[in-house]
Amino acid sequence: MSRIAYVNGHYVPHRDAAVHIEDRAYQFADGVYEVCEVRAGRLIDERRHMERLKRSLRELRIAEPMGEASLGVVLREVARRNRIRDGIVYLQVSRGVAPRNHGFPDPAVRPAVVVTARRLDIAAAERRAAKGVAVVTVPETRWARVDIKSVSLLPNVLAKQAATEAGAFEAWFVDADGLVTEGSSSNAWIVTAEDVLVTAPADLGVLRGVTRTLVVEVAARLGLAFQERRYSLKEALAAKEAFMTSATSLVTPIVKVDGQMIGDGRAGALSRALRFHSRDAAERGGELSSPRMAVLTKD
Ligand code: PDD
Repeated sequence: MSRIAYVNGHYVPHRDAAVHIEDRAYQFADGVYEVCEVRAGRLIDERRHMERLKRSLRELRIAEPMGEASLGVVLREVARRNRIRDGIVYLQVSRGVAPRNHGFPDPAVRPAVVVTARRLDIAAAERRAAKGVAVVTVPETRWARVDIKSVSLLPNVLAKQAATEAGAFEAWFVDADGLVTEGSSSNAWIVTAEDVLVTAPADLGVLRGVTRTLVVEVAARLGLAFQERRYSLKEALAAKEAFMTSATSLVTPIVKVDGQMIGDGRAGALSRALRFHSRDAAERGGELSSPRMAVLTKD
């Protein structure tokens, strides 16, 4: 089956899908994006993704390319045309196509919209989560406005590549003060010896992950202790558990940081329970089927 992409109002074969060479995202990374999970044919947390998209567009003063409902139709249609049951839809909006001048085009041009979809191997993701993954750390070299989901991802690309080359799954950015900010494409969490969940505040140095927000809500419903605060790499290395969150990885336990074992070196019990309950909540539009925490046996 051939893949289909949406480009500026048209559904086109993926292999023919193209944007103009003077697209502002291509030349200046002047665009924003969202990645939304598709599970059993449904978009997960669509409302929060749309809210974050609108915020990112507002911050960069790019006009909304179409109404929220129409955009939702396009996302679902791309998923449908590609027969995605479990996977992701990718949405990118750039400021548009204009002669290459650094300042915003004046008068403004029409924002360019691209949507693609792709399948994810959920069986492989489950196996990965059961075993836990390794991360490596890299210096925080990104621009300060990573709260905007912009396509300025070169430092993230280099970080992920460093992780891959070190045999790890993800990279964690560590700032000049030795504090962990977030992953190259995920939020970073630890669990303290007292079973407190900790993640960095979603302010200017950290993206407000949709999955992060979901996990905060799930933790509250389960009565788990949660702190939004900065933490050092040193504290992370001594943590009981660690995990990452994103639309593509949901909650994935981390068992190694820079080659050093976290906890007993196996996927942590709380991380695994949170994966289970977050999946449950995502599929039920935020509700839990039971407020009692699942006790999952380690395999
Ligand atoms: N990335 N932090 C960064 C830098 C990210 O790129 C992402 C997601 C997250 C988690 O956000 P969410 O839970 O909304 O996916 C945090 C997507 C998946 C990507 O770039 O492919």
